[in-house]
Amino acid sequence: MSDKTKLYKTLSAQIAALVSGETDEVGVLANVAAALKEAFPERFFWVGFYLRKSGDCLRLGPFQGPVACYEIPYGRGVCGSAWKERKTIVVPDVEQFPGHIACSSLSRSEIVVPVFDGERQVRGVLDIDSRDLNAFDQTDQEWLENIVKIVADEIYS
Ligand code: SME
Repeated sequence: MSDKTKLYKTLSAQIAALVSGETDEVGVLANVAAALKEAFPERFFWVGFYLRKSGDCLRLGPFQGPVACYEIPYGRGVCGSAWKERKTIVVPDVEQFPGHIACSSLSRSEIVVPVFDGERQVRGVLDIDSRDLNAFDQTDQEWLENIVKIVADEIYS
């Protein structure tokens, strides 16, 4: 098992314990963003949630890292595309992603995981950015999807 897999395994169990029995969306998502950022402080430059509120936009939710844009329209950027396509998007080089929304010029690669509720509606997305190119792989995708499901089952079911 790789070091990264071991770390994710521990982290996933920690997050499951952290959110167990908690139902407050902002508090839970804030703690999850903090736990993720603390686990990978160098690799994860920005970790946070964009949430569906009203209308066809995602709004900035709890996050860790530099200040970020408030609003992302449906189908726009990596976050809006993950919402529209209802699937995880891994972007090895943000400059190659048409319509990428640059909140920080330091972000060079990213992963966006949709957050589904119990009725398979997209409630928001988890967005993680890195200062390195090609920072995210299949292991990140699988574990981050696992963590997002644990959290969503707690607060959106
Ligand atoms: N890059 C994202 C926008 C959010 S920031 O990276 C925090 C996108 O293209 O959707």
